[in-house]
Amino acid sequence: VSEAAAAAVLQQNNLDFMVNQYARSAGHLSLVNTLATKYSALYKRKINPLTEILVADGASEALATAMLGLLNEGDEVVVIEPAFDIYIAQAEMCGAVLKPVPLRVVKNNNDNRAHWALDFKELEAAFTSKTRLLIINTPQNPTGKMFSRSELAQIAEIVAKWPQVVVISDEVYEHMTYDEPHVSIATLSEEIWQRTLTISSAGKTFSITGWKIGWLIGPEHLVRCAAIAHQWLPFSVATPLQEAVASALQTAEKKYENHNNYYDWLAKFYSSKREFLCKALEAAGITPIIPEGGFFIVGDTSRIILPEPYASDSSVTRDWSLCRWLTKEIGVAAIPPSSFYGEKNKLQAANYARFAFCKPDEVLEEAARRLLKCREFLKKE
Ligand SMILES: Cc1ncc(COP(=O)(O)O)c(C=O)c1O
Repeated sequence: VSEAAAAAVLQQNNLDFMVNQYARSAGHLSLVNTLATKYSALYKRKINPLTEILVADGASEALATAMLGLLNEGDEVVVIEPAFDIYIAQAEMCGAVLKPVPLRVVKNNNDNRAHWALDFKELEAAFTSKTRLLIINTPQNPTGKMFSRSELAQIAEIVAKWPQVVVISDEVYEHMTYDEPHVSIATLSEEIWQRTLTISSAGKTFSITGWKIGWLIGPEHLVRCAAIAHQWLPFSVATPLQEAVASALQTAEKKYENHNNYYDWLAKFYSSKREFLCKALEAAGITPIIPEGGFFIVGDTSRIILPEPYASDSSVTRDWSLCRWLTKEIGVAAIPPSSFYGEKNKLQAANYARFAFCKPDEVLEEAARRLLKCREFLKKE
């Protein structure tokens, strides 16, 4: 990937291919063509590279352009919490009103482990005549929850009742799935395709988050709204990096390190890191809610008795104090998940911390060693 970027920057400019100049606003041709080929195969429909794809400055800008293009002040946006914090800030900057629906932690019947579940009655109750957007994220940050085909079908059924609603489906972790294949809501039916903007990015898939190359795919009438906002924001995205991502996407389809393609290798690569960190958390007395996708694990920290002065810091919620303690005293940084909730539901995060396993094995091993110190602070069973 890095070589493709270097080669693109160093190409001799000529009149046909000015790779160091502004790109076409909606996306450099080699990238939109490559994306159209990739997603036409996945979606089993012919995606038009010129009208049904927008390349953006990462998934973050794709999200922002979609919201700016679609929201008016006072519109309502339904988000499923915990939600990637950017959704909440961007919707608020558009003057929209957030309608959060929290996932619930539910115990499995067979093995008593926990998983994240969406209550469809709660979701349905959040919709009103003012709802303009539903934002979903699968695999989800921070929980690693993946929406199954049947859950997505239930979401699509609710959306079908509200003709003004558009779905934004953030799928940046689409290639990091460990138990079941990823399903895009846009592939369920022609009706839901017509109502959905699907967002992804090269950042997570190729470990190049600093490049900020993302995209948005959907029917022309919705992509156009985002493309117009994009025209007045960055206007255009780094041409050589788009060229390099096009090349990476083509190479990714080929055999890689004894796997059918790069994506199969990637899922395997992260799957063993997921297993390692889950075991390390378990050993430390932090119960992981095993993620189905992505590279984060939310762990239940309720067995830890926080020492002073962290325990009595009433200026922040428990998850903040706990993550501060973990970082300063244990030497492992975790994210307090209340930052993925609005004011209304943030106390639901009190007993959780988000850990990341997108790290070299040596770093994970050192983290596992340090985390064992948490055992000294566990409640007696
Ligand atoms: C769910 C989700 N969406 C979007 C992004 C941002 O992607 P990008 O770096 O391509 O802007 C992130 C980054 O952490 C993310 O977790």
